[in-house]
Amino acid sequence: MIALENVRKVYRTKRGEVPALDGVSFSVAAGEFLTVRGPSGCGKSTLLLTIGGMVRPTQGTVTVDGKDVYALSAAQRAAFRADNIGFVFQMFHLVPYLTVLENVLLPTAAGGGSAGEAEALALLERFRMTDRAHHKPAELSTGERQRAALARALLRRPGLLLADEPTGNLDPENAAEVMSYFTEYHHEGGTVVLVTHEQAAADHAHRTVTIRGGKLAQ
Ligand SMILES: Nc1ncnc2c1ncn2[C@@H]1O[C@H](COP(=O)(O)OP(=O)(O)OP(=O)(O)O)[C@@H](O)[C@H]1O
Ligand SMILES: [Mg+2]
Repeated sequence: MIALENVRKVYRTKRGEVPALDGVSFSVAAGEFLTVRGPSGCGKSTLLLTIGGMVRPTQGTVTVDGKDVYALSAAQRAAFRADNIGFVFQMFHLVPYLTVLENVLLPTAAGGGSAGEAEALALLERFRMTDRAHHKPAELSTGERQRAALARALLRRPGLLLADEPTGNLDPENAAEVMSYFTEYHHEGGTVVLVTHEQAAADHAHRTVTIRGGKLAQ
């Protein structure tokens, strides 16, 4: 499902170059549940964004579902991402002036496709959010925000779900609920790459990789 070959990323900033990934190679099989761990600043988010087609590596190749992600044009990459990849962030990244339902429907606005309101409402029901569908994100609890973000990520039924510390801002009870939806998605055949510091979340995984200083640790 995913293959990274010698991926390097150096962020170029006004204050100079910041190395983030230093020659990372590994692959993830379809249907696998992988967690990524490592100290703050080691490159976990950069790695995930690179897999998700959002951060172009300085060197190396990223293949997802047989596609060389950065050989695609920007428009092709956006369409590929909308069709194949769901992304969940630690800070939810919901659009504040849209309702929950409108947020969940955003991927259809961006990428087209057939999933619509009925599917969005079904996902919200599954995540116990039906009575919040017409609320704005600011009116939600943090657990509800992350469940809305997860519904948005799953709307187009992606084969791959990437999540960057999705339970980092949640209390243990809400974290466990969100993790149970990841496990469900995985049992239905989805591939998961999850960045997490939390052992409870990592326990769901098949395999864990650790990053240190932009490299895979052994
Ligand atoms: N947009 C950016 N511009 C410049 N440097 C960046 C940028 N994003 C990340 N970095 C730097 O790249 C390195 C890796 O950052 P990254 O966010 O991938 O780490 P992380 O492992 O996700 O950390 P955390 O656990 O704190 O989220 C860090 O040194 C960081 O300061
Ligand atoms: Mg991070």
